[in-house]
Order: sequence, then C-alpha cells, then structure tokens
Amino acid sequence: MARIAAGADHAGVQLKDVLVAYLRDAGHEVVDCGTYGLDRVDYPDYGELVARKVSAGEAELGVCVCGTGIGIAMAANKVPGVRAATVHDVISARLTRQHNDANVICLGERLIDSTVAIEAVDAFLEASFEGGRHTPRVAKIDALLPASSPTTATYPE
Ligand code: RB5
Repeated sequence: MARIAAGADHAGVQLKDVLVAYLRDAGHEVVDCGTYGLDRVDYPDYGELVARKVSAGEAELGVCVCGTGIGIAMAANKVPGVRAATVHDVISARLTRQHNDANVICLGERLIDSTVAIEAVDAFLEASFEGGRHTPRVAKIDALLPASSPTTATYPE
C-alpha cells in the first residue's frame, strides 16, 4: 500500500473525490489536499500542494486532477523532485512510471470517464520504474530544476 497525496481544482474535484474513495477502499493512505467543492479555485495551488507532499517525502506518489490534467501537471512539475505526467489511458499511465519514473499522475475530468481514470491510476500504482537506459534520462530531467524553491501554496482549511 502506498501513501498518496491527491488534489484537484473545481474542474477536477468530482473525479478526484472518486479516486480518493477508490484508493482508500483499496487500502492506500490518501492525503486529500483539496479542493473540496465546486467553487472556482486555481489549479496551480493544488498542483503545488500535491507536489510539495511528494517532494518532501510525505507522500510516495501524487494524483492530480483538473479539467484537462494539463495545467495542474505544469504546476506540479515546477517543484523539484516531482515528475508529473498527464495521462489519458492505461498505456500512458504505465509507461510514464516505467520510463519516466513519474511520481504524480495527472488526469482530466473533462476528458476521460471515471472508469478509465481508475484503470489508469491502478496501472500507475502497479508499474515500477525500469531503470537501465531510462536512469540517466530521468536524471537529466531532474537536473533542470534547482534542489529547492520557495513555496507559495497554503493548505485550505
Ligand atoms: C479550469 O477551467 C481549467 O482551465 C483547468 O481545470 C485545467 O483544465 C487547466 O489546465
């Protein structure tokens, strides 16, 4: 079982809630970083909250949802040590763990249905980094960011 941080904006909160419930039912420990309702919020804040948990080692993996899964991934990828990938299916979810050592999966509530999203998250959790030829490539990704950066996010009440 894994310790997982989850977060979403208003456009992803319903799928995020489905995934949080699914993961908890499966026995994972999930830190729900919000948002918790449909009021409009800014996806970078929630991408950062999840990413900071992963970067700090407080979560092994992250799950992010926004309307497309794209903007929240862009934000999460600004945090050192985080490799966030937008995926649309089981294959991309599996391959980004195996090849990119992705540690945050990002999904678009407006683009995929919850069944596919659950299957993709399962594939992401079941896969593992293959190492080998992928190791120096992932190291080059990580070397593009400094080792730390100041946080701007605060946890919602
Ligand atoms: C919100 O309307 C939407 O722009 C956001 O959830 C996301 O899709 C951005 O990438």
